Amino acid sequence: MPTPHIGANPGDIAETVLLPGDPRRAKWAAETFLDSPVLVNEVRGMLAYTGTWQGNRVTIHGTGMGMASLSIYVNELISEYGAQTLIRIGSCGAMQKTVKVRDVIIAMTASTLSTPSRGIFRELNFAPCADYGLLEAAVAAARAKGTDTHVGGIYSSDVFYDERPDLTEIMTRHGILGVEMEAAELYNLAARHGRRALAVLTVSDHLLTQEALPAQDRERTFGDMVEIALQAAFA
Ligand code: HPA
Repeated sequence: MPTPHIGANPGDIAETVLLPGDPRRAKWAAETFLDSPVLVNEVRGMLAYTGTWQGNRVTIHGTGMGMASLSIYVNELISEYGAQTLIRIGSCGAMQKTVKVRDVIIAMTASTLSTPSRGIFRELNFAPCADYGLLEAAVAAARAKGTDTHVGGIYSSDVFYDERPDLTEIMTRHGILGVEMEAAELYNLAARHGRRALAVLTVSDHLLTQEALPAQDRERTFGDMVEIALQAAFA
């Protein structure tokens, strides 16, 4: 049975799911990297495709922006469709001078002010972290490709237009590599349900230098990230 937000039938979704925020990037990545991609969801325009990569079944499903949106899709993918390995592929803003626009960040942990799981954790300061096997395989894939890659903590924010510059300063001082808006809740949900999760991110903009990746460069750097995620999933 399809779920409220995913029109696919059980069996249409692979056990391995790549999760870009942008549904049109899901379409692009599926058409670029998968063999025989089939559209399996378009409810609310949240496109998802299932195909194969080197003979392995993969679904690429958009999540929308922010943890509240990702939480809806990932809960349904896990509970109703049996997703086992979930890898976010997305963009982030860099928070360290050593991290450059176009570099890849592989998120070992994701700090937050709040997540949709806060109601469960309450006073507990749960530390959302990546699956170590996926992390190790992604780092190996990135090194083999020669991609400039950083591994460490990121920050999952609830807002893109942040009115708290002091928070950026504190996180930069604590070694946080970059900011995005989804990974922490992905890691929480994977932990809760015993699934494997990772976030592989491309730096699209820099909070310290204000540099931003030109739109025409995004596709190529995004491609490196998709290949790293696929190689990690099936290592
Ligand atoms: N902030 C939050 N999310 C982001 C950013 C940012 O600067 N860049 C890409 N995703």
